Formats: sequence, C-alpha cells, structure tokens
Amino acid sequence: MAYIQMTKIYKIYPPNVVALSGVDLSLDKGEIHSVIGENGAGKSTLMKILYGMIKPSSGEIMVNGQRVQITSPLEAIKLGIGMVHQEFMLIPSFHVYENVILGQEKSIAGFIKKKQAANHVQEIIDRYGFKIDSNKLVSQLSVAAQQKVEIIKQLYRKADILILDEPTAVLTPQESDELFEQIIELKRQGKTIVFISHKLDEVLKISDRITVLRKGQKIATVENKNISAAELAKMMIGRPLSYQIKKSQSKPKREILSVENLSVRSRKSDKEILSDVNIYVRNGEVVGIAGIEGNGQYELVQCIIGKIKPDSGRIVINNADVTALSIRERRRIISYVPQDRKYVGLALKATILENLIMTHHLKKEFHKGFLSLNWKKAKSHAKDVTKQFEVIYRDLDEQPMVLSGGNQQKVVVAREFSLGSDLIVLDQPTRGLDIASTEYIHRLILEMRNADKGILLVSADLDELMQLSDRLYVIRDGRIVAHFDPNEVDAHTVGTYMLGAAG
Ligand SMILES: Nc1ncnc2c1ncn2[C@@H]1O[C@H](COP(=O)(O)OP(=O)(O)OP(=O)(O)O)[C@@H](O)[C@H]1O
Ligand SMILES: [Mg+2]
Repeated sequence: MAYIQMTKIYKIYPPNVVALSGVDLSLDKGEIHSVIGENGAGKSTLMKILYGMIKPSSGEIMVNGQRVQITSPLEAIKLGIGMVHQEFMLIPSFHVYENVILGQEKSIAGFIKKKQAANHVQEIIDRYGFKIDSNKLVSQLSVAAQQKVEIIKQLYRKADILILDEPTAVLTPQESDELFEQIIELKRQGKTIVFISHKLDEVLKISDRITVLRKGQKIATVENKNISAAELAKMMIGRPLSYQIKKSQSKPKREILSVENLSVRSRKSDKEILSDVNIYVRNGEVVGIAGIEGNGQYELVQCIIGKIKPDSGRIVINNADVTALSIRERRRIISYVPQDRKYVGLALKATILENLIMTHHLKKEFHKGFLSLNWKKAKSHAKDVTKQFEVIYRDLDEQPMVLSGGNQQKVVVAREFSLGSDLIVLDQPTRGLDIASTEYIHRLILEMRNADKGILLVSADLDELMQLSDRLYVIRDGRIVAHFDPNEVDAHTVGTYMLGAAG
C-alpha cells in the first residue's frame, strides 16, 4: 500500500485553465520522489493540493489507505505533510528558533519559554545533522541556511513528508551537494521527500523514483535506474532536446559599460556593501558575475540601473558618465531583466499586453499622434514577441498572475530583449525556467552577444555562468575577488572563490 495515493486529480483554475487533468501520484514511505515537468506542467499545483493550499476540482487523496480531505496546510501538517516553498516566509529580525516555532507557540505550555524553545529547536537541528545555530538571527543567515530553517520548521511540526519546490534554484553547487546529503539523511531517518527541480542531473542523483508531468497530465512514474537525462527530457517535452550550446569565440569590441571604483555603504549598518568594484563589459561579450547571494551582486546591478546611488565611483555607459542619471533616463539605454519578476519585472495589476510594451511605449514607433499609444501596433508587437519567445498565455488582456512562473519570466525577457538596447543587464534570467525555456534564453543571450550587444549576466546558477560567459568575475563580501576566463577554470574552483575558501 502506498503511503500517499493521489488519484485522478483535476484542477481547473477559473474560468477554464486546466492545470491538472487526471493525475495520479503515489508516494512510498521513505523514498525520494522527484516531480519534473516543464513550466506550467502543474508541479506546484499538484503539491499545493497535497499541502492543502489549493482545493482540487476533483480527485481523491489517501494517506495510509485512509481517504482524507486536506483543506488547509494546518490539516496537512496534522497528517504529517510539510512543504517548503521557493519563496521563503521567514522573519529576518527573528531568531532561528523563533521562526521555527512561529505559529506553534501554544504547544510549549501556553507561552514561549525562550531558552527551552531554543534548546528544543537545537535538538531537532542536531538530530538531522543541520549545522545551524538556533540562536542566530535569520537576517544573518545565507540563503542556503534560510532554506534549512524552513525545512527544520516543517520537521518541528513533525512532518513525515517534505515537499521541496525547486529548493536548489538559489544554491551554489557546494550548497546543493550539502542539501542532498541532508535529504539523504532525512530519508535514512524514514522521511519521505518530494523533490521538484528543473535540473535533471540533480534529479538523477538523488531520486528513487521520478514522476513526469506534461501539460497537466502524468506521463509516467519511473524507477531511477537505467534512465538518462535525455530520456527524461523527451518525456517532459514530447520531443528530444539538443543539449549542447555551441559558443563561437567572442569578438569583443569597445567598452559599453564600465564600473569604476564603485563603493556603497549600507544606510542601516554603515557596513560596506560594495568596496571599490571595477568591472567592464564590451560589445560582443557576455560577462558573468558569480557569487553567493547577498555578496553585493544585487546592489551592483541596482547601481548600474540607477536604483542605488553609490557613495563613490562612477558608471560609464557608451563613454558617457551616467552616474547622475535617473532610472528612467537609463532605461532608454539599458535592457534589464530583474531577479524579482514578481515585484520589479512585472506590473501585476496591468495586463500581459501592457507588461509587454512597457518601456517600448517610450519609443516613437509606438506613438500615434501626441502622447497617445498606437494600441493596434502594440498588440501586434505583443503577439509577435509572445510567439517568438513561446510565451504560453490565453488572452493578452489577462493579468500576468495567471501565467506559470516560467511564463511570467518569459514576458519580462521578451520585453527586454526586443528593446534593442546595446547593454543588456540580466539578473537571474532563467531562475525557475524549465530546460527548454532555459536553453532558448541561453541561445538568445548568445545571439545578442553575436549581434554585438554587451551582456552583464548575474546568476546563482554556476553552470549557466560557465556555459555562457566569455569572462567571469567572482564577487564576495562586496569585492571582486577573481576574474577568470571560464575556459580555463572549472566550476568547483570558481565555487571555492565564491565561498571564500580559496585565495
Ligand atoms: N492562481 C492561478 N490562476 C490561474 N491559473 C493558474 C494559477 N496558478 C497556476 N495556474 C496555471 O496552472 C498551470 C500549472 O501551473 P503550475 O504553477 O502548477 O506549474 P509548474 O509546473 O509549477 O510550473 P513552473 O515550473 O513554472 O513553476 C499553468 O498553466 C498556470 O498558468
Ligand atoms: Mg512551480
């Protein structure tokens, strides 16, 4: 008997988006079960149903052979089901143990006995071999450590099944390896793990079984034996996928971006977030920035696009000092894909159409008479780019919220890549994208580079940086600590610089 059996699960989002169409999923106790599929395949929807966050349109769920109704996460956790989302929900100014017990305080004799609570949380941390101090503030933790706190939080609630929705999307290779060790330890102690990832090598590394979804349907559940990444990709996409990216030698031209002696101090702590950063990008090359999240790369990008004013140093684009220019003035010369598509990249209240033509509307060709937009032209442009960029949507007048995460990202990328700017700044451009979309965007990045655009690529995905960059900087503690030709180093070496374990 399966531990968990989901049968004929349907989910139709009103009015008529069929996200799941008769999906079965069975989980055995103590297994690591991966769920894979392209963007919008229905992975998160299926798991949110199991976690009681979303109500299925029909279908049934059995736990240990008993039919259950899981109407809320509270209900789910009573059944031993816990989920860690890709967006963490921790309170930075709270200690680790406070975050862990949040919402469960009553279970400790009606009020919080701090020391006792901290000790209890530390016990759980140690039992599962997580190396975290329960008395630390969450704001002092790395992204990887925060993710562990989320897992510990579920363990504290006595989860027997842990659903991890794209947990490695923000981790370095070393951090991912560490997470895998911990997942295996959890399995050893009898926990059941559901693992969602777009990275097939990871899936092949740790799963016992793999369930493949495509367009809301279950294609197969396979044992992780004698199955290759290529076969999995074919099941996911319905056709074989060419993996290799062929990169020609770059032919860099003149400098399009130059960041000179840039320093930024935190207004809050007076700590230096960026210290004397010097980098340059030339037309016709992809320049990568590698670093563990929170080491200044975000602020560097914000300085370049004009959101943060540096305390010293300057930014030169196309030989003009732009340090004093506003964001809006810079947007005319920079294409920019922000890491936070939800709050910065997209206007969630606007329509998909409006989102696609934002910034383009500053251009003359979209104007009709004085100050009025040529909507007909805008619409045909939007249709062209959504087709070109394979954005899956129903109606351009809908809001981007109805799109899957990957398709939201494609809207932003489509808009920015079609602007035609000479400088393209990409912050995590493929985060959360499936293999086909990632490959597509990788190819576009190289096409842009071959068309003599200058590209600055900030990414937490080291493989992506190694594949695409012509030159690679490593940033740590706000300083550039290394500058490589990616052909001459391996990912592991770069990783040691990112972690501060080298040089
Ligand atoms: N709240 C919602 N309202 C309407 N449609 C939705 C909603 N959430 C998801 N969908 C749609 O349901 C389908 C499945 O989405 P889901 O988020 O489960 O995909 P996914 O496999 O997790 O994709 P990704 O890899 O991009 O995270 C998609 O077509 C998506 O557009
Ligand atoms: Mg998802």
